[in-house]
Amino acid sequence: MAYEMILVEIQGRVGVITLNRPKALNALCDQLMGELGEALRGFDADPAIGAIVVTGSEKAFAAGADIKEMKDRTYPAVYFDDFIGKRWEDVLRIQKPVIAAVAGFALGGGCELAMMCDMILAADNAKFGQPEINLGIIPGAGGSQRLTRAIGKSKAMEMILTARMMDATEAERANLVARVVPLADLLPEALKIGEKIASLSGPSVAMAKEAVNAAFETTLHEGVRLERRLFHSLFATADQKEGMAAFAEKRKPDFRHG
Ligand code: HXC
Repeated sequence: MAYEMILVEIQGRVGVITLNRPKALNALCDQLMGELGEALRGFDADPAIGAIVVTGSEKAFAAGADIKEMKDRTYPAVYFDDFIGKRWEDVLRIQKPVIAAVAGFALGGGCELAMMCDMILAADNAKFGQPEINLGIIPGAGGSQRLTRAIGKSKAMEMILTARMMDATEAERANLVARVVPLADLLPEALKIGEKIASLSGPSVAMAKEAVNAAFETTLHEGVRLERRLFHSLFATADQKEGMAAFAEKRKPDFRHG
């Protein structure tokens, strides 16, 4: 499919999606979110891909949902269109790891999109924020929940109630991001993480992701139970046999992703 608002490329075994609406700082309009969902699903279904990177420009990962597109929407329109639910949550349904490589602004829906990914790698110029309160609304794509779980109540309250932005250093200290790297290293470093993941056993990667994500959804008891069942199920894969045999034979494993 031809995309207009994103760029899609494959680097080795990593699928790279670049949000590409520079004049609007990658504001996340319906068309862009539709294209993003389509590209994510395509990479998820492609056996040649083992991990996905979502990134933006040097100036903006995304400056939020598209305010100009949203401004005249009515309550019944957003309600019956299931605004957010319909187009925004595709990334949550992807089984392969999705890395958000964030430079510049990640605001409102942009910050929420980054938080829906499995990890955030930040450039040193990244700025995170939930400025919806300035527009007379609140976060609508999970920001009040995911930001609070990531950085705790006081910091999340301050950001959501005052629209204060957090720079990359503070975001790393607050555990919102995995790591901060110089801007020039952002994509190479994200690709390195993606390549490492893609070189491992596909089933164990997908189940590790599922298990970690369950920590946000369930009790400790149920989460540990799920982890154990997934752990057990990996003993049914050829990759587990190969991984352990390779260790015992002092050689590199040759994972077949099954
Ligand atoms: C639509 C946007 C936009 C947005 C920027 N633009 N953000 N258009 N929606 N979210 C457009 C501007 O209108 C402008 O277009 C162009 O991008 C460049 O932006 P400037 O403001 O001129 O750039 P700058 O002065 O560098 O300021 C950057 C900025 C500012 C601080 C990021 O653009 C800004 O505050 N943007 C809005 C951030 C925000 O409120 N995000 C939350 C949105 S609500 P023109 O045509 O004038 O050149 C949200 C709800 C999520 O995300 C709920 C779930 C979906």
